[in-house]
Amino acid sequence: MPPSQPKDNQPRAKWAKRFGLPRPAAPPSRWPWSRRADPMVRDAQYAPRLRASLSEYLNWYFSDKAFLHSIDWMGIPTRKLVTDMWVYQEIIAETRPDLIIEIGSFYGGSTLFLAQMQQLAGGGEVLSIDVSHAHFRAEHPAIRTLTADCSDPAAVARARAMGQGRRVMVVHDGDHHAAAVARDLRLYAPLVSPGMYLIVEDGVVDLFDARHSKFGRAYPEGGPLKAVREVLDAMRDDFEPDPRRERFILTSNPRGYWRRRGELPRPRLQD
Ligand SMILES: C[S@@+](CC[C@H](N)C(=O)[O-])C[C@H]1O[C@@H](n2cnc3c(N)ncnc32)[C@H](O)[C@@H]1O
Repeated sequence: MPPSQPKDNQPRAKWAKRFGLPRPAAPPSRWPWSRRADPMVRDAQYAPRLRASLSEYLNWYFSDKAFLHSIDWMGIPTRKLVTDMWVYQEIIAETRPDLIIEIGSFYGGSTLFLAQMQQLAGGGEVLSIDVSHAHFRAEHPAIRTLTADCSDPAAVARARAMGQGRRVMVVHDGDHHAAAVARDLRLYAPLVSPGMYLIVEDGVVDLFDARHSKFGRAYPEGGPLKAVREVLDAMRDDFEPDPRRERFILTSNPRGYWRRRGELPRPRLQD
């Protein structure tokens, strides 16, 4: 029996039919703040949209499904905030992982992005783990997939074996319920090599007040930020948060960028 599909693994076809995807982001007229204008901006067309606060923008980015489902990397849907993708690129170029373990593949847009960044930085693989790869569309020589519940001991053992003696980075973008994230962090944090990064995605869901945001009601028991505070803050001997990675302000991963203390392991052979 394959594991049951989590609710956030919804096929885009549902939205493609309804919204005619792929297509550009929703037009400004759909934006909730478009009736107001920013007096600092003199251009009449752009003044209303630039009135939005950062919280309005983030709330819209993650709760407007038509928009969220329109985000592609190289033609494959992904669920990332684009500023975070830039930060990923910086981390990969600086640390040059031999292996990135990605928990949560979905369509594979993020997997392809990671594989291509690896290639540009000089090589390295991506192991992408998901309970289902039914919608996965990414193809790249650096991509390995593992269809399994990431908390299955066999999946953890496979990831550990692949990372043995290599520079390993981990990206958690799987089940975002706090309890599941906490469980996964305890299993996968030890696989991260000294000097390398552990990234916990989508703690942004914990920032929003349920009374004012539908998005804020998504995880009533808490999401990734709650898990980070429980688990990684207790691992401060081994991990340190890297707030520089949040310097664009707009991030899906508040307190989600962690560096394992210690020196980077030996350079890759091709270095
Ligand atoms: C938000 S999506 C991943 C998005 C993708 N990383 C991207 O940025 O395009 C979350 C994925 O995690 C997967 N998932 C949820 N729980 C999981 C688990 N326990 N083990 C492995 N994958 C899981 C879901 O099937 C879903 O495809």
